[in-house]
Amino acid sequence: MDRSAIVAALSDDDPDQLKQLRCRAYEVKVRHFGRTVHLRGLIEFSNRCVKSCFYCGIRRDNSAVDRFSMTVDEIVQCALNSHRLGYGSVVLQSGERRDSDFVAFVDEAVRAVLKASGGELGVTLSCGEQSTDTYARWRAAGAKRYLLRIETSDPRLYAALHPADHSFADRVRCLWELKTIGYQVGTGVMIGLPGQTAEQLADDILFFGELDVDMIGMGPYIPHGETPLAASAVNFDKARNFQLGLKMIALTRLALGDVNIAAATALQALDPSGREKGVRFGANIIMPNVTPTVHRQRYQLYEGKPCLTDEPDACGNCLDARLRAVGERVALNEQGDSPHFVRRTEKT
Ligand code: 5AD
Ligand code: FES
Repeated sequence: MDRSAIVAALSDDDPDQLKQLRCRAYEVKVRHFGRTVHLRGLIEFSNRCVKSCFYCGIRRDNSAVDRFSMTVDEIVQCALNSHRLGYGSVVLQSGERRDSDFVAFVDEAVRAVLKASGGELGVTLSCGEQSTDTYARWRAAGAKRYLLRIETSDPRLYAALHPADHSFADRVRCLWELKTIGYQVGTGVMIGLPGQTAEQLADDILFFGELDVDMIGMGPYIPHGETPLAASAVNFDKARNFQLGLKMIALTRLALGDVNIAAATALQALDPSGREKGVRFGANIIMPNVTPTVHRQRYQLYEGKPCLTDEPDACGNCLDARLRAVGERVALNEQGDSPHFVRRTEKT
């Protein structure tokens, strides 16, 4: 897929073309992964954050947010729940902090989760930008994957979406370091940001390729009322962002082949069957939320977050039925490593 073909596909609203794109991407997904989807139990363990990104509901400067941090025991309980439900992997996600208490806490949590599951759970971290030492320390604790979205690969758009002290170059450097340290590395972007063009989105896909990442997690941008960006999102077009989100999944699948691609929860926020549709457009990963319901409403990055009141077990059953309805099966009790990572590391 070259840049102009990606731009053309992103700009084309013809239903037949869209169907063709979906079928081609789904075929590649099936070739690499069969008709199976791997799950990761998502544990949103703290909404305390030192960053103040203009789009995000839990940004530091949103004083309306009730801040929380789970204990290691609470995290282990969530992880064991995921293990019992057969999810195979968990993602520990939080706002960004770099103080030594936080760094030690994450280290301890990773070790505790691995110990409690007898090493059976795969652990992914998604805790923002950190020093090389911290990344190495968490890797040594046993975390084997790391998610850090670049948010947009265009430095100018990045600068427009973040306060001046949030550095695009630092974020890119973090991604390269994560690879060097030996993580399976995931990145991604928000789709349909105010002012974002098809060319910028095409460049995002090329950026994923240049970085040679193993996993992609990206989803539609959805405004949050208590953020600076909400004002410029008056023209928010839900249907357009949803469709762009599906197209980006399909085009990324065609461009990158064997990487793990998640159907983001934000897709489900815009359409009740958004995640299944994501799978039909080439995604092979879903991240059901296993955060205790008491904390879930305090972790709202955007408005309309789904499953706010569902218990983890209910989400598991619901997902299973939804995937069966589109001819897919949940791969239970498997960690679901990125085949791209396996190939990439075999080569070196
Ligand atoms: N809409 C969609 N996604 C968002 N994120 C943060 N705020 C929003 C929003 N308003 C995404 C960012 C971040 C991830 C955890 O959530 O891409 O990396
Ligand atoms: Fe939560 Fe369906 S996945 S209710």
